[in-house]
Amino acid sequence: MTEQNTSEENPQGTIPHIITHQEKYSKHPKGFSDFVAKSTVHLSAGIADFLFQERYCHRAVVLETIAAVPGMVGGLLQHLKSLRFVRDDRGWIHALLAEAENERMHLLIYSGIAKPSTLERVLIMVVQFFFYHMYFLLYLVSAKTAHRVVGYFEEEAIHSYKHYLQLVEEGKHENIPAPLNAITYWELPQDARLTDVIKATIRDEMHHRDTNHAFADDPIGTKLWS
Ligand SMILES: [Fe+2]
Ligand SMILES: [Fe+2]
Repeated sequence: MTEQNTSEENPQGTIPHIITHQEKYSKHPKGFSDFVAKSTVHLSAGIADFLFQERYCHRAVVLETIAAVPGMVGGLLQHLKSLRFVRDDRGWIHALLAEAENERMHLLIYSGIAKPSTLERVLIMVVQFFFYHMYFLLYLVSAKTAHRVVGYFEEEAIHSYKHYLQLVEEGKHENIPAPLNAITYWELPQDARLTDVIKATIRDEMHHRDTNHAFADDPIGTKLWS
């Protein structure tokens, strides 16, 4: 995966301009569907950069509220497909629901570190309303594109968490003790720190990335209507 340099400090120690989204993804877009997915994610990541800049923990909280939606929508529609055609789901429903649950845990863990402001809570509600309906419709029209969107979203998430990890390791964000819910969820050592939490999150996001790109490439699972 190619990652661009995200920030450079000026002599005064402030960060003059931050671009955290990626220019290239590990999965090169092939065809119109992938192009739509890549463009959607690239635009969304640009908006997130603009809104949050280096406030990574707040960025994580808001984005995890979105990240926890696709697995539940995909799981529901795959469940209905399995019922409709009386056909085995090949493990997709469980994988998608597990992804949604995992993303929800990310949200609960990071919201314990960075308490979302009232404005962020309103933003979460507005974004959820639009994103849920748009993703639902997208999945009905093209499950392949929907999974590719998530695959690219996950690549952005990995990139973003890696940058957050770097800032914590460099001492620009305090490496606080890991919250108890993170220690319990990932079975981390009792003396785990924020860096351990971020590393565990990155491993989860890598798993989501690989699963969703693989699902997008699967011609059977992505066929919703036959
Ligand atoms: Fe996540
Ligand atoms: Fe994820």
